[in-house]
Amino acid sequence: MMKTALIVLAAGKGTRMNSDIPKVLHPIAGEAMLFHAMASGALLEPERTVIVAGHGADQVRAAALSYDGEVDVVEQTEQLGTAHAVRQAQSALTGFEGVALVLYGDTPFIQPETLENMLAALARHDVVVLGFEAADPGRYGRLVTQGDVLEKIVEYKDASDQERAITLCNSGVVACQSELLFDLVSAVDNTNASEEYYLTDIVGLARARGMSATAVTCDEGETLGVNSRADLAAADAALQVRIRAQMLENGVTLAAPETVYFARDTTIGRDTVVEPNVVFGAGVTVESGATIRAFSHLEGCHVSRGAVVGPYARLRPGAELAEHVRVGNFVELKNAQIAEGAKINHLSYVGDATVGAGANIGAGTITCNYDGVMKHHTQIGAGAFIGSNTMLVAPVSIGDGAMTGSGSVITSDVDPDALALARAPQVEKPGMARKLFELLKAKKARLQRGS
Ligand code: UD1
Ligand code: CA
Repeated sequence: MMKTALIVLAAGKGTRMNSDIPKVLHPIAGEAMLFHAMASGALLEPERTVIVAGHGADQVRAAALSYDGEVDVVEQTEQLGTAHAVRQAQSALTGFEGVALVLYGDTPFIQPETLENMLAALARHDVVVLGFEAADPGRYGRLVTQGDVLEKIVEYKDASDQERAITLCNSGVVACQSELLFDLVSAVDNTNASEEYYLTDIVGLARARGMSATAVTCDEGETLGVNSRADLAAADAALQVRIRAQMLENGVTLAAPETVYFARDTTIGRDTVVEPNVVFGAGVTVESGATIRAFSHLEGCHVSRGAVVGPYARLRPGAELAEHVRVGNFVELKNAQIAEGAKINHLSYVGDATVGAGANIGAGTITCNYDGVMKHHTQIGAGAFIGSNTMLVAPVSIGDGAMTGSGSVITSDVDPDALALARAPQVEKPGMARKLFELLKAKKARLQRGS
């Protein structure tokens, strides 16, 4: 396979987003749109990835590095055009020999197969551009072709009426030998309607030098770029449609697919049932044969085979459910490993905890994991029975097979098989309820008479 380097342009302001957040960091299906572009490029196993940041560069750098610590982030301090942006990547790619592929950080849906088609076309051509037949060509750059030869790209602003009539448009994605790319972009000038350095000019420049260029095409949907919040919502909706279809094809049961929201990386095994109105944030894996009941919200968690979650459950990052675990309504789990067959069925918060196999956590139980400054761990042994409304004040450990009485506030460790009671003993006053009722009724009658 050819050695490749990705150059992802992500310096633009995104004015129409009307946002303090850099455009490429707005999420689609749970992930920054920049990550979508990086992910489709990553499937080519690039030697290098260079992100060209500009507006909000610090935020973009931090995000890009959190996604992939190997990438280079370079800064384009002034946005003078796409060719100028590509030029900023040159020093990061010194010594690199291979194909450079230019992607846009705001164009999240280019498929890896499309990029592979482009690389294949490089065997016969010096410059390969990704084009598409536009339903509404609008202000896209137009590809001027003769047979399969790409002669030049004309930006809308600079195009003649005849050129504007062309419907084959530029997606912006370009592939070319790295050294040649930098050679060509350094020859680009800004004598055009926008006074910008157009990356698109490299095609005409290559042709003038007797080199060959061609366009590879893809479906218009892949080239969808995001420029506004409306585009962002439309892009997310389009991706949701694709993910839902993929889930159904993979053997996941979705009773009301249009109500389930997935992240790009949601992984679900076959014969799992996802009821309506479930939201999957980033980083969720669900094994086969599990049930995610209605209105549950999951992120950064793992659900094993046969487990049942919800309705109305919330699994936060670090929640790990072993096989046949049950997590019921209004239960929140965070950084909690729940062993096989354990049950947490009602109204509980279990955070920073490990729960042993077959344990039963009564309704309203809370792990008091936070002392206002630090987080502490709670350990619950296998087969333990935690009475309803137990407060487990962490750090604390409940032994295997132990019990806690309902309403207990447990502040010290409980030995295996012990019963811990930590609540005020019950006091009974015979006949007192009747006396109290009589007193209160008499008082009310006096008030009503106004005396
Ligand atoms: C560009 C193409 C156009 C194509 C269209 C597809 C050029 C000259 N034109 O136009 O042919 O049809 O994309 O969407 O390339 N960027 C930088 N630094 C800059 C300028 C842009 O990083 O100085 C980034 C932007 O953040 C964006 C991408 O490059 O991700 C495209 O820039 P944009 O200004 O949107 O280009 P268009 O005018 O849409
Ligand atoms: Ca654009």
